[in-house]
Amino acid sequence: MRRAKIAIIGAGNVGATTAHWCAAAELGDIVLLDIPATEGMPAGKALDLFEASPIVGFDAKVTGTTDWADTAGSDVVVVTAGIARKPGMSRDDLLSTNAKIVGDVATKIRETSPQAVVIVVSNPLDAMVQRTFQVTGFPAARVIGQAGILDTARYRAFLAMELGVSVEDISAMLLGGHGDTMVPIPSCTSVGGIPVTQLVPADRLEKIVERARNGGAEIVALLKTGSAYYAPAAATAQMVEAVVKDKKRLVPCAVYCDREYGVGGYFVGVPVVLGSGGVERIVELDLLPGERAAFDKSIAAVKDLVAAMNRLTGTA
Ligand code: NAI
Ligand code: 2OP
Repeated sequence: MRRAKIAIIGAGNVGATTAHWCAAAELGDIVLLDIPATEGMPAGKALDLFEASPIVGFDAKVTGTTDWADTAGSDVVVVTAGIARKPGMSRDDLLSTNAKIVGDVATKIRETSPQAVVIVVSNPLDAMVQRTFQVTGFPAARVIGQAGILDTARYRAFLAMELGVSVEDISAMLLGGHGDTMVPIPSCTSVGGIPVTQLVPADRLEKIVERARNGGAEIVALLKTGSAYYAPAAATAQMVEAVVKDKKRLVPCAVYCDREYGVGGYFVGVPVVLGSGGVERIVELDLLPGERAAFDKSIAAVKDLVAAMNRLTGTA
């Protein structure tokens, strides 16, 4: 059986770590690509990772390159190219630089891997996934943004810490934009099947939600030289796995919503079923009035961001 081909664009912290998780899980052959100015860096990281394979015990080719031809015919392309946040920067500060980079990358993906499912990670996520959709012209089902799995993982991790229980017992769902405007859905959060509202007082739960909302900034403030990458890469690898193994995972991702949730043609975080075709179904939840109001605020923030990006890129 042919192994899946996974191209990871941007061999920096998130890209290389995604390669690591994907290789360790034997998800397919991996091509790490970065810009020519990085010279041997992607090849060096790829070789180093491949040399771990006899120890860890995975069979996968891992190669690094600066030549897009090497990514041709990929089944999945992960976009991590761009600059990351430094202390004091918001995700939106990255907008102009990354809109240009992601636009160029999307053009190359269209030419080299026209059948790929594209998973976008670069920030500001909700705009970069829209940019990828605009430039590739791919069907919406094959363009997906990674944000919700990470935001939900942070929330689940903090809940597990609070309650002193295994992270495996926490199940949760967050909607909306990445980070600052994410919307918790308490009715979809449970601990070993018990509704979270029976275990955590409302004021304490709000503090945990707030920490998850600021989860990216918390890591930036600690690292000082860049942003998070272990958890973002693990979240991305889970999406790659869902596609290459046709897992039908029901997870929150930033996907194109038109009539769904009344969004009107933007990428926002909602529950979806992910499989070999990419987004196979969008799950529409009945939101309580407070949740709906928070979700609408999140959609408004995404629309503002996309409008700013469209002005910068001259997109009608
Ligand atoms: P990094 O700086 O370590 O790596 C970015 C890499 O992209 C660099 O190696 C750079 O040379 C490369 N690159 C730049 N232009 C390129 C191009 N045109 N083609 C190919 N490669 C190119 O940054 P890091 O930490 O890996 O973050 C990458 C992006 O992911 C950032 O925008 C960051 O904000 C975002 N991010 C998003 C998350 C999410 O949940 N959606 C979570 C964490 C990071
Ligand atoms: C994060 O949430 C920076 O978006 C990135 O860690």
